Amino acid sequence: MKAIAVYEALPANEPNCFESIELDTPTPVGRDVLVRIDAISINPVDSKERLGISGRLDQPLILGWDTCGEVVAVGEDVKNFKPGDMVISAGDITRPGSYAEFQLIDERIVGFKPAGLTCEEAATLPLTSLVAWESLFDRLEISRNDENSPPLLIIGAAGGLGSMAIQFARKFSNCTIIATASRPESKEWCIELGAHHVIDHSGDLREQLKAIGFETVPYILNCSNNIPYWEIMSELVSPEGAICLVASTKAKLDLDIYMAKSVRINYELMFTRSLFGTDKMFRQGELLTKLSEMLETGKIRHIMTKSFGPMTPQSLSNAHRHIERGRMIGKIALSGIQQ
Ligand SMILES: NC(=O)c1ccc[n+]([C@@H]2O[C@H](COP(=O)([O-])OP(=O)(O)OC[C@H]3O[C@@H](n4cnc5c(N)ncnc54)[C@H](OP(=O)(O)O)[C@@H]3O)[C@@H](O)[C@H]2O)c1
Repeated sequence: MKAIAVYEALPANEPNCFESIELDTPTPVGRDVLVRIDAISINPVDSKERLGISGRLDQPLILGWDTCGEVVAVGEDVKNFKPGDMVISAGDITRPGSYAEFQLIDERIVGFKPAGLTCEEAATLPLTSLVAWESLFDRLEISRNDENSPPLLIIGAAGGLGSMAIQFARKFSNCTIIATASRPESKEWCIELGAHHVIDHSGDLREQLKAIGFETVPYILNCSNNIPYWEIMSELVSPEGAICLVASTKAKLDLDIYMAKSVRINYELMFTRSLFGTDKMFRQGELLTKLSEMLETGKIRHIMTKSFGPMTPQSLSNAHRHIERGRMIGKIALSGIQQ
């Protein structure tokens, strides 16, 4: 099969950053399904994994986790899928990814593709939907029926993760959603998706929160880096509130600033369940199938804002440069590798 690999942490605009290669098409065994990739989406993790390579790898690294495609073969223990099924998945960080013609994925982290969406539109959904859902409901433990409309602050809300978090919070909780965005177009996007208020993360968050009537908030989902927001979050969070972090922090942070308020700090890593094969791993596949129903019934909308065309070394380089600018609104997609 054709695949597009990386070997080194080259800048995305270097001509050899991505290389077309040929690999044996894998055979599914056990609970794996073999998916023919029709479309993928790019996430910041794609770029972080590329830039995290040290030296030159002996073996090709196939990046890419958001996938939409057709099941073409299944392992002997697969129960939920059969060849011909159209599916979506956010993959497994320890296995070869979706910059390829085919990908093996454990059926427990696969869901059915929403009918009525193109494969590119569907490919923008799995990874950020899983992390948004787990952040809001498994980590922050937001109640689905709290009549008090507790304020939820989503920092960096117009990107891939925030776009799904706004929608889930709006449809599945009574939270008052306060999104942060810094540009007119990103602010407008947050409002379109359901945010009740948008404040600007390039300005004073405390003053802006006060101006809309909130001294503190019981829930914060930080979709941005932790260091710039570490101290301000300790001021903005309510006593006994909760914060969910999704980015790794490459520095030692003072946890004690949260002690007086007894704040619960949670990490969320979407890959945890597949990385450790936890007993909740199957919930990701179930959630993706539920997500498809939400799309089909119009509860949730897809968040694709741009296509970079079929996967080639050049289009992937363009897509990585786009995401590395940190100015994403919604998500970008590419279609499968052409024959
Ligand atoms: N733990 C996990 O499982 C997991 C999963 C998915 C993502 N993540 C991580 O979550 C983060 C967000 O992912 P994503 O897909 O949403 O990224 P993204 O789509 O690239 O996010 C882009 C958004 O970031 C906002 N932004 C830029 N600078 C900012 C700043 N200084 N403060 C606040 N917001 C800022 C931009 O808003 P404006 O243009 O309005 O400034 C833009 O809308 C990344 O670090 C990613 O690696 C973690």
